[in-house]
Amino acid sequence: MSESPSAELLTEAATVAAQALAAIAAAGELESLAAVRARYAGKNGALKGLLKAISGVPKEDRPSVGAEVNRLAAHVEAALEARKAILESADAEGPTDPAFDPTLPGTRLPEGSVHPVSIVMDEIRAIFTRMGFDEASGPEVEDAWHNFDALNIPAGHPAREPTDQFFVENGLLLRSQTSTVQIRVMESRKPPLRVFAPGRVYRPDTVDARHLYAFHQVEGLVVDEGISFADLKSCINSFARSMYGIDVVTRFRPHNFPFTEVSAELDVRCPSCGGDDAPRGTPGRCATCGGEGWIEVLGCGMVHPRVLELVGYDPERWTGFAFGLGVERVAMRRWHLDDVRMLEDNDVRFLRQFR
Ligand code: DAH
Repeated sequence: MSESPSAELLTEAATVAAQALAAIAAAGELESLAAVRARYAGKNGALKGLLKAISGVPKEDRPSVGAEVNRLAAHVEAALEARKAILESADAEGPTDPAFDPTLPGTRLPEGSVHPVSIVMDEIRAIFTRMGFDEASGPEVEDAWHNFDALNIPAGHPAREPTDQFFVENGLLLRSQTSTVQIRVMESRKPPLRVFAPGRVYRPDTVDARHLYAFHQVEGLVVDEGISFADLKSCINSFARSMYGIDVVTRFRPHNFPFTEVSAELDVRCPSCGGDDAPRGTPGRCATCGGEGWIEVLGCGMVHPRVLELVGYDPERWTGFAFGLGVERVAMRRWHLDDVRMLEDNDVRFLRQFR
């Protein structure tokens, strides 16, 4: 049974349009696309032939058949234009240079390296994480409560002198120690807790080979029932062993901090000279320890009961210990740097030695 002329024309138009669309999609260059255009949409193209054939279908079918054939022709036209735009833009960026060889290795971008302060920070972070500490942080712009009062540094204390701090405004200041984070943690959490807090601190020191006005500390805090100085010593000694090697020799030297009672500083035996006990300051003595035989590593102590009270912990029930260490100092010792400014000059000739 043969189809009516109208149906026949519609079928043919659909077939031609489908072929045209396939040919357009397959055209990989502008030239082949132009050939496709000539074959289907050109003056003597297949679509033009179909449009002419409309006059051959019965009068009453002409409007609907004409509309459909025109719709297909417009669709093919649009596909041709879209494909042309794609091929043109590909042409613009394409490898037209015959000398271009995609098999050659690419240009190597300069590779960054990890900053020595970050290397040390990450190591300390790993050690305390392994010991079950959580990481905490606090703001660098602090109020007097967190930087002083809650740390048992009362008004009138010399540490609060404007010349000793970077005061900003409204009594706010750039924190001078990460001990501020101890307070923030205790205010927001209930004991027991075990946290460490790495961060940047600020002091108006004149910059020289041993001082920066901004440097890094790591703070530690443990609060629980029955925590004693024995816990402090074992924790800090194992930190020292992880950091400086299993045979490091440590000593706890009595000291004073307002926020701990008792307080101590931790020294390690000088790794360079092994500490052969020459009198202090003897000329020509070890450059690392200045002949002292010991190197100061951190401050520590049992959290002062007053501090526990100020954050609302019952000091009869809870005790704890805390410590704070300077990161740049560790880095200086590790890589035998004699000038701390190397760590903040950001001279890539220096920095790229670290991986
Ligand atoms: N905050 C002290 C400083 O900046 C270091 C320190 C000492 C932190 C004893 C402590 C601590 O937590 O218990 O020099």
